[in-house]
Order: sequence, then structure tokens, then C-alpha cells
Amino acid sequence: MKIAIANDHSALELKKEIIALLTEMGHTYQDFGTYESVSCDYPIYAARAAHAVVNGECDYGILICGTGIGIGIAANKIPGVRCALCHDPLSAELTRQHNNANMLSMGARIIGPELAKAIVRTFLTTETQATEGRHARRVEMLSALERGEALE
Ligand code: RB5
Repeated sequence: MKIAIANDHSALELKKEIIALLTEMGHTYQDFGTYESVSCDYPIYAARAAHAVVNGECDYGILICGTGIGIGIAANKIPGVRCALCHDPLSAELTRQHNNANMLSMGARIIGPELAKAIVRTFLTTETQATEGRHARRVEMLSALERGEALE
């Protein structure tokens, strides 16, 4: 698979570790920056990676900032993105299964590299269960909200 990866200045080191893991797992990736440790604005990099996932250039996206929060909020502003902030493998597994999350965000100031890599592994190897039934219905409701439709 092709993975979009993006980060701010706080996550350069963690990004290197994640990229090494992606390569080890046999995936390709596109690195949307930032490439420097100079303080920068995470929404820019989130948007680049998010657009690549939504337009099909990349299959999934991984975003890292200090907390994983800002970069994930930014990505979720792009219609079609379902970005989940995960700091444990169970959340990564469940968000793939239930929410069909297409982007993962993590905080480089919150978790260490080994845990982050375990989360990425789980995220990228878990099949979604949201192809039919209640999970599919709820994910479709998320899309309806993006379209500005009322749910009830
Ligand atoms: C940058 O200092 C920090 O605010 C950013 O990495 C992130 O944690 C925002 O949510």
C-alpha cells in the first residue's frame, strides 16, 4: 500500500522510525513534510496528506505532531477523512474495524517509538468491519454529516 505521512517540527525523529517500519512492512510512502525542525504550522502538512488520501493517491495516512491532536483535527476538516487519534493498539484496531479510519494521528510527545510502531502495525493490518451492518450505517452517517444532511 502507499501511505501518506506528515508531521510538524515536534515529530521528525518519530517520522523516521515510522518510515523505516513502513518500508520493513513492504509499503511505499509519500512524505508530505515538514522536513525540518524549524517551528511550523501543522495544518499545512495535515492538509497535504489528507488530500492525497481522499483523492486516492495514497491508501492511508499517518500524521504526527506533539500531541497528535492538532494535526488530526486539521485532517478531519477535509471531507472524506476519518482520522483517529490513537495512543494504544486496541484503539487503532477498533477504529479500523468500526470507523473505517483512513488516517491515524499520534503524538510524538505523548508516546515512544515502540508503542507508536505497534499502533501503526495494527492500524495497517486490521480490516474494517464497516462494509455492512451497523458500522457501515454509522460511517455513512459521518459522510451525511459532511454533506450537511440532518441525521434525524
Ligand atoms: C507544537 O508546539 C504543538 O502545538 C503541536 O505539535 C501539536 O501538539 C498540536 O496539537
